[in-house]
Amino acid sequence: MKYGFLGAGKMATAIIEGLLKSEVPAARIVVAGPEKLHLEKLSHRFGVATSASNEMAARSADLVLLCVKPNETSAALESCGSSLDGKILLSIVSGKTLHSLSVLAPGARIARCMPNTAATIGESATAYCCSESLTSGDRAAVESVLRCMGAFWEVPEHSLDAVTGLSGSGPAYVFLFLEALTEGGVKAGLPAALARELAIQTLRGAAALAASEGLHPAILREMVTSPGGTTAAGLLELENAAVRGALIRAVEAAALRATELSSAR
Ligand SMILES: NC(=O)c1ccc[n+]([C@@H]2O[C@H](COP(=O)([O-])OP(=O)(O)OC[C@H]3O[C@@H](n4cnc5c(N)ncnc54)[C@H](OP(=O)(O)O)[C@@H]3O)[C@@H](O)[C@H]2O)c1
Repeated sequence: MKYGFLGAGKMATAIIEGLLKSEVPAARIVVAGPEKLHLEKLSHRFGVATSASNEMAARSADLVLLCVKPNETSAALESCGSSLDGKILLSIVSGKTLHSLSVLAPGARIARCMPNTAATIGESATAYCCSESLTSGDRAAVESVLRCMGAFWEVPEHSLDAVTGLSGSGPAYVFLFLEALTEGGVKAGLPAALARELAIQTLRGAAALAASEGLHPAILREMVTSPGGTTAAGLLELENAAVRGALIRAVEAAALRATELSSAR
């Protein structure tokens, strides 16, 4: 399998790194983008082939990854002409539907995915959907790319906006939470660096525990909350500030915004 990248930015770099780690030889990867300097950096860092021509990258690949910004999508796909015919096209572009991509690349078999920023370290929570034209072999090829970014789930296309609201935007909510936990630690008397490390490990450990126990989060929360104790005092403040409701509404609002943006594109 040969891979062609349209776009040489942050996400393309993360996926290339993941492919190389999963032992795809650099010789099977070609990257195209408008900025020579960005291409040279990638070629120098990873030993991949580069090209100023999207058409050439698409022609030489079996699976083409569309890694451009939403407003660059039409130009990138139009410049490929018929070179996308018969190819698998995997788009990571938010808000571009399978239908809108198929209008721009009618000869390609198309899948789209919504990774998150943790793809840069192979820890993304990614959801994806496929057009009906994908064969089981195509799906396996798509999944091998998604695996390089982290964990993945197939969803119906209409769920991708909800996915955007939860796991796409989710890292930002968690960073806000992390920032506040750290600040709380400092206000309670800890040095900032230690507060940050403790907060990060607390998030990491709590997430790992929730994943390993498979218990409902409410049960895990009860297990660490003794009546009248320290955690109960902290949780009471969160409930008074309606944090739970605010998080629920944050996911809903981001999902709604994703729908608005994708219908405007
Ligand atoms: N970052 C995230 O966490 C995240 C999460 C989910 C989905 N996404 C999606 O991933 C996509 C890429 O995001 P990113 O963060 O990697 O953006 P980025 O770093 O700005 O990369 C975009 C790349 O596209 C290149 N490009 C621009 N016009 C082009 C054209 N006509 N043909 C080929 N390449 C072209 C740019 O070239 P230059 O090198 O000249 O700038 C740049 O290398 C976006 O659509 C975004 O919605 C991102």
